[in-house]
Amino acid sequence: MDRIDHDIVVLGSGLAGLRAALEASRVSHGRLDVGIVTKVQAMRSHSVAAEGGTAAVLYPDEGDTLDGHVWDTVKGSDFLADQDAVELFVNTAPEEIRLLERWGMPWSRRPDGRIAQRPFGGHEFPRATFAADKVGFLEMQTLYGAIQGFPNVRVHHEWFATSILSDGERFRGITGIDLKSGDFVVVRAKAGIIATGGAGRIFGFTTHGHHSTADGLYMAYRAGLGLKDMEFIQFHPTGLVPSGILITEAARGEGGYLVNRDGERFMKRYAERKLELAPRDVVSRSEMTEINEGRGIDGPEGIPCVGVDLRHLGKEKILERLPQIREVTMKFLGIDPVDDIIPIKPAAHFTMGGVHTDLRGATELKGLWAAGEAACVSIHGANRLGSNSTSICLVYGRIAGVEAAAYVKAWQGDGIPKVQILEEEGRIYGATLRGTGDVNPYDVRDRLQAIMDRDAYVFRTGEGLSRALKAVRGLKEEAYRQVSDKVKEYNTNLLHVLELDALLNAAEIVLVGALARQESRGAHTRLDYPKRDDVNWLTHSLAHRTAAGPRLSYVPVTITKHQPVERKY
Ligand code: FUM
Repeated sequence: MDRIDHDIVVLGSGLAGLRAALEASRVSHGRLDVGIVTKVQAMRSHSVAAEGGTAAVLYPDEGDTLDGHVWDTVKGSDFLADQDAVELFVNTAPEEIRLLERWGMPWSRRPDGRIAQRPFGGHEFPRATFAADKVGFLEMQTLYGAIQGFPNVRVHHEWFATSILSDGERFRGITGIDLKSGDFVVVRAKAGIIATGGAGRIFGFTTHGHHSTADGLYMAYRAGLGLKDMEFIQFHPTGLVPSGILITEAARGEGGYLVNRDGERFMKRYAERKLELAPRDVVSRSEMTEINEGRGIDGPEGIPCVGVDLRHLGKEKILERLPQIREVTMKFLGIDPVDDIIPIKPAAHFTMGGVHTDLRGATELKGLWAAGEAACVSIHGANRLGSNSTSICLVYGRIAGVEAAAYVKAWQGDGIPKVQILEEEGRIYGATLRGTGDVNPYDVRDRLQAIMDRDAYVFRTGEGLSRALKAVRGLKEEAYRQVSDKVKEYNTNLLHVLELDALLNAAEIVLVGALARQESRGAHTRLDYPKRDDVNWLTHSLAHRTAAGPRLSYVPVTITKHQPVERKY
């Protein structure tokens, strides 16, 4: 066993993790020892796949307002967002854009030299700041570059964090595996920040990278922390068929149309005013209605879908604004959006829920914060607006960094829970690595994803969710802890089995929450409960772990200015 010490350990090297490490270093003038633990090479975190934009109010002189961004976000959330958190987020986001600029972010520009912004779904003003369609990649590169100025930050590439250590009252560190050597590692730290992303890979048809496997959520859950609003999964309207690769919303922001088999712009039937730029829950439901009512296109591999038509934008604009989309469609499908309609359908894209935090990102465990997609503050409520995600990673990464640094300054305890460490070592190297299961874990993962794709997708029913829950619980009981590869170094087989534990538990929590929530709100659409029910369900769900499965409780939504009204677009 290797043991190292840090003042702050950040789990995850996506936008939120990098931003948190950077801010903790900035506010402490590089005096704090900060470790970033990431299961991939840092620059491969899923944030690199963010494409279209980062929302912030940059141009009040041209009519945008902070209040406008707050209102769009709250309305987009179907009124489940905590409005004090939305206000804090919106007020902080513009400075993040300028800070990135100072650190070297190559934002796209308008002819007058000012930073360019484009329209995005559900926003009433074009406030998605962008760099062509490679926003996440360039933001991460910028932050990673800025971190190089702080020698106090050490990145542990390809370390897989497996558990949170606590003394019952405070965070004390984490355990993990150095995937390169296979060694068990213990990181003792005074403060921690979970920034490990979402649970996208509980679905098969998803825009998420293969490593978005709910690890941080599962660690928090096992440590007794609550996961909030997990039933709300966002389906991005334009997942490329058949792979699920993201076709950015910027394709529609730049003027692309959604069309059915007759070439008709069908969104006029569902969102008369905003059309293709209605929020994602509305657009995804509209697409599935077209498909279910027989107006879909026969897509690749016979998959029914609809299309994004960019042809009228012209080659020059596509090359300037959407070069990655063109590259992806050419490489993965052999079609060119300059000449062809892109086949798409809704793909699992974002976990609106996550580790329950307060307004400042603090979890229920003293000394531990959560930020980015792993966290549920809650700002997205039941439906996140496109381009709010990268901004929230920046804003809450920063807040978590500030808070963790202040905490470490004030609390200098040490010590480490030895029994927990031994138990965790036994779970990994005994029960899992030497597990005697006879069921193929990859088969279990495929079956899990097929269940979720079928029964927890855009339209849900009590019957489908019950069936899925029973099936997922059945999978949990199967003997899948079979690691046939026994090597120590780079044992990805072991990693995948541990990830599967996380996926199965995350899926169970999503289903339990979705079954309990007898209403339709945002991205959670129950055909058997088609209406939003503010009397009984204007409330956040919280799932805590028990031996019998997730136990649900509910906490109130914070409403400051905006009472729920009917959403019309
Ligand atoms: O479509 C996109 O570019 C995704 C952006 C987001 O999820 O915010």
